[in-house]
Amino acid sequence: MQALGRILALTLLIFIDIFVSESSCVDKNQTTQNSLHLVTEVYTTVSVQMGTKAMLCCPSIPLTKVIYILWIIIVRCQPSCIIAYKVETKETDETNCSGRGITWASSPDLRPDLQLSAVALQHEGNYSCEIAAPDGNFHKAYNLQVLVPPEVIYFPVKNRTAVCEAMAGKPAAQISWTSDGDCVTKSESHSNGTVTVRSMCHWEQSNVSTVSCLISHLTGNRTLFIELSQGTTSTPTSLLTIIYVKMVLLGIILLIVGFAFFQKRNYTRT
Ligand SMILES: *[C@@H]1O[C@H](CO)[C@@H](O)[C@H](O)[C@H]1NC(C)=O
Ligand SMILES: *[C@@H]1O[C@H](CO)[C@@H](O)[C@H](O)[C@H]1NC(C)=O
Ligand SMILES: *[C@@H]1O[C@H](CO)[C@@H](O)[C@H](O)[C@H]1NC(C)=O
Ligand SMILES: *[C@@H]1O[C@H](CO)[C@@H](O)[C@H](O)[C@H]1NC(C)=O
Ligand SMILES: *[C@@H]1O[C@H](CO)[C@@H](O)[C@H](O)[C@H]1NC(C)=O
Ligand SMILES: *[C@@H]1O[C@H](CO)[C@@H](O)[C@H](O)[C@H]1NC(C)=O
Repeated sequence: MQALGRILALTLLIFIDIFVSESSCVDKNQTTQNSLHLVTEVYTTVSVQMGTKAMLCCPSIPLTKVIYILWIIIVRCQPSCIIAYKVETKETDETNCSGRGITWASSPDLRPDLQLSAVALQHEGNYSCEIAAPDGNFHKAYNLQVLVPPEVIYFPVKNRTAVCEAMAGKPAAQISWTSDGDCVTKSESHSNGTVTVRSMCHWEQSNVSTVSCLISHLTGNRTLFIELSQGTTSTPTSLLTIIYVKMVLLGIILLIVGFAFFQKRNYTRT
């Protein structure tokens, strides 16, 4: 119990969270392409942390010149979702988009941008905006990648060995150690696209007492310190020693008491 408490107390955690929820368009430097000269669609990759809000922007064209706005959303395992707005009649039309948490960022007659209230793994896919204007069509296409921060666990195990694990992260986290040890790193991919990475290291030299692992991930890095357990099987051995010493002491006491008792009996008899 004492040893466990010490390990917990000495194990520190540093967490740097670099991601904040998006309150503006995910792609700030917009590039507008006139579709008349477009041969293949150019996708801008945007990475958004799961659970945060995301905004996808159309090419910025004065809305007074716009005829219609069309968003086409293609994600895996779901029918395409199409959101359209006709400026002249102020009509909006949605096909296969309900229940996906995808809406206009504000009224489409104010801005043509799209908003995802809380990004989930199912949102990963391609989002394209087409704006029709009298002088041509304008495109903007995004490839949305969802980032999932891994759940991190770390602990020492017997025999001067430590484990660092980054569970169900997307993309896979990377684990590195500050002191060179004998390491085995394994990763396991899950069906939802997340990956669990587990690294276990052993240190032979007894001069290494505290090690640290760095878990690198796009959603933030963490450095974790682990105090290695000393010796191989010291705890059970020392416990046995204490029990043994106690039993010997008890035996000696019993012997003294018994001896005193017999002495007293002999004395009273004579
Ligand atoms: C998105 O577009 C890219 C590039 O064309 C393509 O490789 C990918 O399969 C598309 N994703 C989906 C979900 O259709
Ligand atoms: C909408 O979804 C249904 C099935 O859920 C499908 O049959 C239909 O083709 C979809 N419409 C479009 C425009 O993708
Ligand atoms: C301790 O770990 C090393 C390296 O993994 C191994 O060779 C050795 O047998 C282990 N010792 C015990 C007592 O488990
Ligand atoms: C992905 O799958 C793994 C393994 O089934 C699970 O632990 C994890 O919570 C899932 N992540 C998400 C974001 O659904
Ligand atoms: C531990 O000892 C080895 C040689 O025995 C040495 O190479 C290494 O630098 C030492 N490590 C530390 C942290 O002192
Ligand atoms: C996280 O770690 C990676 C690799 O070690 C590094 O390239 C990156 O700059 C680090 N990010 C932060 C925010 O410290």
